[in-house]
Amino acid sequence: MQYPGRLHSKLPQVGTTIFTEMSALAAEHGAVNLSQGFPDFDPDPALIEATQRAMRDGHNQYAPMAGWLPLRERIAEQVAKRHGCEVNPESEITITAGATQALCTAMAATLTEGDEVIIFTPAYDAYAPLIELFGATPVYIKLQYPDYHIDWDQLARMVSHKTKMILLNNPHNPTGAVFSEEDLIQLEKVVSGSNILILSDEVYEHIIFDGRKHHSLLSRPALAERTLAVFSFGKTFHMTGWKIGYAIAPENLMKEFRKVHQFNVFSVHRPSQVALAEFLQDDSHWDVGSMYAAKRDEFLSLIEGSRFTILPTHGSYFVLLNYDGITEEKDVDFARRLTIEHKLASIPVSVFYNVPTDHKVLRFCFAKNSETLQKGAEIIKSL
Ligand SMILES: Cc1ncc(COP(=O)(O)O)c(C=O)c1O
Repeated sequence: MQYPGRLHSKLPQVGTTIFTEMSALAAEHGAVNLSQGFPDFDPDPALIEATQRAMRDGHNQYAPMAGWLPLRERIAEQVAKRHGCEVNPESEITITAGATQALCTAMAATLTEGDEVIIFTPAYDAYAPLIELFGATPVYIKLQYPDYHIDWDQLARMVSHKTKMILLNNPHNPTGAVFSEEDLIQLEKVVSGSNILILSDEVYEHIIFDGRKHHSLLSRPALAERTLAVFSFGKTFHMTGWKIGYAIAPENLMKEFRKVHQFNVFSVHRPSQVALAEFLQDDSHWDVGSMYAAKRDEFLSLIEGSRFTILPTHGSYFVLLNYDGITEEKDVDFARRLTIEHKLASIPVSVFYNVPTDHKVLRFCFAKNSETLQKGAEIIKSL
């Protein structure tokens, strides 16, 4: 069927993404799929059991609009413990349908026509379309290759009276960069004295390696007071299909956030919330970093001796491999050929930029079981 009227697309530039394309190609050619940003193993059986129990115990109707309070309380305890930040579970935390809905709702609640939002590239693919959807304009700043650090002087130069928001993703997808406390100090300097909001995407906060600490924007009061921070249980507890996360913001910002939230989702899957609240009574369940560090180390040792150059990854479940020594092909072409001819799917990093930027790097996801990692590594070593 076709709608017979005239359509005015709100996102005319948006088409099928490379993620869909690479997954379809991987399926068509029976390729090992290290392109997709999600685990191929199941969550803790205790979490599944707790969800089933919540359903059997009658938790099958709407949850409260802001989320199941015991779960919000577990989150508040964790934020206080890890980041020294006291957030009120009643008024400053909302459970969302994944971090994506939290990002969308945060922007819907705060952006208006003419606003500018600064984002760093390579950038997670949802940011720019969401900014545009709400009439604002993305302003892009490139992270500095090859370690993808932020040029703070450049940020200071790009900030103007139109800057409504700065969006920071830490730990960073797709690069695996982790920003330091010194970075947060620089950010604080840039926004000090302004009304700039910060949207802080911290979905990989627990997936961090090498003894590094995640410096949440909530850990610095001068940043926390202007920050909407978004998180993902899907990422932390390897159940991305449950689509559950949360947002944290100061009370007056959260009030605006909830005005949108109550009309776009109202509330989120109740059995999962009840189960997570029970699961997180054991505080140690948050500690998934060492499990992912072991996966990263396993993958990196399996590909040792390959002709790719490994770019260091300190967080997230991605590693970038540079293929300068193998071919001069564009990254998109090489990624497609790798999938079709060598049966290994990855994501070319140029797709995370708004302007052509090809450092000849591919993103590989190592949140996979050993068998998948071994198969992928074999192909990488054979090139
Ligand atoms: C940086 C980043 N933010 C947000 C999300 C979305 O998280 P969720 O699945 O909880 O919506 C992802 C998922 O890939 C991501 O990589």
